[in-house]
Amino acid sequence: MRKKIVAGNWKMNKTLPEGKQLIKSIIDELNHRNNKEVKIVLAPSFVHLQNAVELVSEFNQISVAAQNCSDKSSGAYTGEVSAEIINSVGCEYVIIGHSERRLYYLETNNILSEKVNQALNNQLHVIFCCGESIEERNDQKHFEIIKSQLTEGLFQISDNQIDKIVIAYEPVWAIGTGLTASPEQAQEMHQFIRIVVSEKFGEHKANNISILYGGSCSSSNAKSIFNQKDVDGGLIGGASLKSVDFVDIINSF
Ligand code: PGA
Repeated sequence: MRKKIVAGNWKMNKTLPEGKQLIKSIIDELNHRNNKEVKIVLAPSFVHLQNAVELVSEFNQISVAAQNCSDKSSGAYTGEVSAEIINSVGCEYVIIGHSERRLYYLETNNILSEKVNQALNNQLHVIFCCGESIEERNDQKHFEIIKSQLTEGLFQISDNQIDKIVIAYEPVWAIGTGLTASPEQAQEMHQFIRIVVSEKFGEHKANNISILYGGSCSSSNAKSIFNQKDVDGGLIGGASLKSVDFVDIINSF
């Protein structure tokens, strides 16, 4: 059975007190209505990580993720945060390859492959994001783009390391826009991703990897998307900032 995962990507939102409050409300809400089959991952900004780890420590179902890590291991890289430092605060996951990082911080597939290596060398699970732009989809290049993002940014890892990877398919045109991929579009791409993983790592690994959908996923559309055969959960941005909405999504399976 593949792991069902709902991850909340807070992006650059919430002060430390607001973040603590949000985690407490999520836990409160889960105490009322919880889908225990779902692994929950919270990805606040770096400043929150240690606090978040402490706040969820009693709740095995919840893990904490960083939103990024450095492609370097340590040393004179002002402003960077290494995978080793992230691991040292008890964080278990890191998001790598988000389209906002690719677009605004010019992270190439090559840089992302270094980040993935850093994360895995420091015992972190990776949520590896891929997604095409609207122009690429309109030009019918979406499958080709996703395949090259995976091949060039992720597939340098070993057969054992793929077990520590979660893939998030996030069409760029759906992120923060209110436009969602239809359940059929999500299924079509998730199935394609599973085939690409299978070609490289074999069918068994491909059947076991969780593939999440991201992009304007909300309590009103999560059910129809999560119902798809190859969709194993979601990477949630905007709707993860409100405890009720986030827990609604967790309960959408
Ligand atoms: P969104 O963001 O849910 O606000 O569209 C998703 C993401 O960027 O991970």
